[in-house]
Parts: sequence; C-alpha cells; structure tokens
Amino acid sequence: MPSGRASDTELIERKNKELAAILEVSRVLTASFDLENNLSSAMSTLGNMLDLQRGCVFLLDQLSKELSIVAAHGLTKQNIEKGKYRIGEGIVGRVLEQKSPMVISNIGKEPLFLNKTGSRPEKEGISFLCVPIKFKDEPLGVLSVDRIYSTEHGSVDDDLRVLNIIASLIAQFVKLRESFVEVEKEKEHLKRELKGKYSIDNIIGLSDRMQEVFEAVHRVAQSKATVLLRGESGTGKELIAKAIHYMSARSKGPFIKFNCASIPEGLLESELFGHEKGAFTGAISTRNGKFELANGGTIFLDEIGDLPILLQPKILRVLQEREFERVGGHKAIKVDIRIITATSRDLESLVSQDRFREDLYFRLNVIPILLPPLNQRGEDIPLLIEHFLKKFNEENRRSVCLDKTAMQIFLDYGWPGNVRELENTIERLVVMSPKDKIFASDLPISLSLRRPKTSRGEMSLTTDLKELEKVNIMDALEKTGWVQAKAARLLGITSRQIGYKMKKLGIEVKG
Ligand SMILES: Nc1ncnc2c1ncn2[C@@H]1O[C@H](COP(=O)(O)OP(=O)(O)OP(=O)(O)O)[C@@H](O)[C@H]1O
Ligand SMILES: [Mg+2]
Repeated sequence: MPSGRASDTELIERKNKELAAILEVSRVLTASFDLENNLSSAMSTLGNMLDLQRGCVFLLDQLSKELSIVAAHGLTKQNIEKGKYRIGEGIVGRVLEQKSPMVISNIGKEPLFLNKTGSRPEKEGISFLCVPIKFKDEPLGVLSVDRIYSTEHGSVDDDLRVLNIIASLIAQFVKLRESFVEVEKEKEHLKRELKGKYSIDNIIGLSDRMQEVFEAVHRVAQSKATVLLRGESGTGKELIAKAIHYMSARSKGPFIKFNCASIPEGLLESELFGHEKGAFTGAISTRNGKFELANGGTIFLDEIGDLPILLQPKILRVLQEREFERVGGHKAIKVDIRIITATSRDLESLVSQDRFREDLYFRLNVIPILLPPLNQRGEDIPLLIEHFLKKFNEENRRSVCLDKTAMQIFLDYGWPGNVRELENTIERLVVMSPKDKIFASDLPISLSLRRPKTSRGEMSLTTDLKELEKVNIMDALEKTGWVQAKAARLLGITSRQIGYKMKKLGIEVKG
C-alpha cells in the first residue's frame, strides 16, 4: 500500500499539498457559523486537494446518541441519509467509542465494514481511514475517508496524521459553534426579559398587547378602583382578576368569584346579598351573600353582562356606596370590597337595547382592560406552549416535547378557543402521547386544518370552523373512548355543552 520510495521532491510536493489542504480547511471552517455549509466545504476541499474518493463527517447527536453524517464528499443524498450508526456499531461507531483511529486496508475483506450508505459497489482496493473527532477527551464525532492508494500517495501514517489535524480543527469549530449558539440563545433570552418589563407570576405575555395589559394591572392593583375585564372566552380574564387581587394591598383578604350566568335568576339576589331568616320559603336561617364574604378582599363578578336588569340597581348601590341590604332585611350592611367584573359580551349593544343600565355600565367601566385574542399575540404562543408543557409534564411526570414541524402547526392554527384551548390541547398531548417527542403526524388532524384566509369569504369561514369544531370533538371522543363527560373535560366544556354540540354538529353517539 505505501508508495515505495518517494524522491525528496515528491516528498516535499506532497507535504506542501497536505499543508495547503489543512490551511484551506481551516479557512473554510472559520468562514461562518453555518455547521453544514462549513463542514461540506471542508470535505470537498479535502477530497479534491488530497485526491480522496469519499469523505464523511459524522457527528454524535447528544439526545439520540446516534452518529449521523453531517457533511460528505462523493456521496449522494440517499447515501448520506442511510449513514447512521449507534455508538460501538460498525467501524464508525467503534472509533467513536474507543476514541482512537482505525484503518481498514481493503474493505472488501473486512466483515466489520458495514457499508451502510451503500456508496461502494466495488469494495476491492479501497482503504478506509477513520479518525475520532474529539475535544479534549470528549468524543464529538468521526471523520472517515476512502482512499485508493497508488504511487503518488504517501503512507497510511501520513494520511492519518493529516486526518487527525483536520479532525481536531473540526472539533474546535464544532465546540466554538456550540458556544456561539448558546451565547445567541442567551442574548435572545435577555432581550426577551428586557422586553418583558412587566411580568406577573405564571401569566405568559411578552407580546406588546399583553405587556399593555400587564402594565395596566400593575397600575391599578394598588388602588381600589373598579376594573372591567373584557375579552373573548378563554383569554385569561379570571387569571388577570386574581392577579389584580393578589398584587393588591388586600391580597390577604378573600377573593370571591361569582358567575352571574351560573344560577337561575330567582336565586341570584340571595346568593349575592344573602338573606334573613324567613325571608322566603326555605330561608330557615340567615345567610351571608357573596358581597359580605368578600369583605376586606375582592369580589369578581364574572359574566356581568348576564346580570338581570332587575338586580342592576342594587349592584349600582354597592358600587356607589359600598352598602346593601340582605333579602328580607332592612339594615344596611357596609362592606369594604374591591369589585372586578368581566364579560365577553358586547355591553354597549346591551345598553343600547336597554338590557343593561347605562349608569351601571359607566360605573363598571372606570378602568376597562381588554384581553386580546390569541391570534393577535402570536409571539406568545411558543411561550404558552413551553409553559403548559412544563406544567403538564410536571403534573404527569412526563417529558413530552414538540418537534419543529409540530410546533409550526401550533403556530399556524388560529386558536379560536384562545388560551384555554391551547392549554387543553397540550394537556391532552402530554397525557395521551405514548412517546416523548411529538411530530406533526401525531397531532389531532383538527389542528392541521388551517383556517381559510378571509378572501374566501364569511361562508367558508363558518363552515370550516364548524368542521374544525366537529373534528375537535370527535378527536376528544376518540381519545376518551366516547365517554362524553371525559371528552367534555378534555375540551374544557361541560357535559351538557358537549351533548348540545354533538347534536348540533350531527355527531352520532357511539358505544
Ligand atoms: N396569559 C396566560 N398565561 C398562562 N395561562 C393562561 C393565560 N391566559 C389564560 N391562561 C389559562 O387559560 C385558561 C383560561 O383562562 P381564564 O379562565 O382566565 O379565561 P376567561 O377569559 O375567564 O375565559 P371565559 O370567558 O371562558 O371564562 C386558564 O386555565 C388559564 O390559566
Ligand atoms: Mg372566566
């Protein structure tokens, strides 16, 4: 295999060639921080200048612990894709494991040689040289080349020496690039933190729109001012109401939540204001209402738009004078409360239809805070995903993550049900996924059905949304073995709502 005796001139010429190749490789490796590009240039430089048939750089994936080809010279794309080795597998895997070079002088005669890439139809006469790419003692990958030795080439030892130098240049580049990527990430992180001047524990919102909300929350929290939270369902109104309470001076006092749409009109008054013994049939003892329970703290009246018109004057009085009487009582009860209300309804149009008192509306609307829908704060979506993955992974002792393609589908989806739907989807994924890495193909198809652009008109939008809802519900039903109550829980709706929706969307009950 060695070339016999080379003359001094030949020797000098060869050394010069090697030196020039090393210099050129080191130049292309420092041209940028583009891993694949730089390594590809390095491999073709090496191949051309040193007259090598093939060359590959394998790098170790720290997660999968698998070696795969990152750059190659003289291989087709298909060859490259096939070139994957586990630590210790084949020659490439062994070189990594043992951190020392190996040479096969005629691969045709070597059973260890797996030729996984399928790039060598005639193996006779080819020598295969393989050196580890390592930084200090840490193995990062493997550099391999094919060489057909003839008289103008040096010895195997000459080649190994050059390859070792190249491998160490590659190792330095890979390490340097790693720290570069880390620094970039850190910079991005700091930028984000800087931008997120206002933060609230456990509430995600770095978008400008949410930062405005946070700023308003910080400003109003310390005051006693009445706040009206507006926004579509699932945008975080309740979360913000709690934040205002817990950031205020009354945080040690109670936070009482009451949903004005949750109980029949006839019971509302006594729920809110309490009643005296004997005030009505069944009032066997005196009972405190929500306003009294909230004394010293905050009352959060959700769905305030659903408050019956007859009750509205009594609420107005609480707002103005902080006093009221129990049902059946005559004594005015004074309370020290902060009032926060929320609604997803169009209060202005309720006022114009005389279904909501204008004076009450103005009293409630002292400080309105609008929570933007998720599609107006797209940059928060990846952060919310991260937040919920962490939350549900911890709750379920899992370590599920999304691959890039799956993440893209999440970003493209319109999230009509806002944060709640995103949260439920992530919870479902974490609980149901049999594996830790989720790819686009593992996602419910409802997520891949993009919402059409507005140019296609209103009609198609609503049909597609219906379709989307149907697929979503079917999906949840499938995943819960068609137990409606469970499916409803997954979707964050009530059993009654799912029954109604199934009927409306023509979903037949199975099983
Ligand atoms: N910015 C956010 N960061 C983290 N979680 C959020 C955020 N916004 C909403 N959530 C979560 O989404 C879910 C829905 O939020 P919330 O109940 O506050 O919405 P809502 O506006 O009151 O909805 P609805 O009108 O349906 O009552 C909750 O589980 C909440 O924790
Ligand atoms: Mg709510």
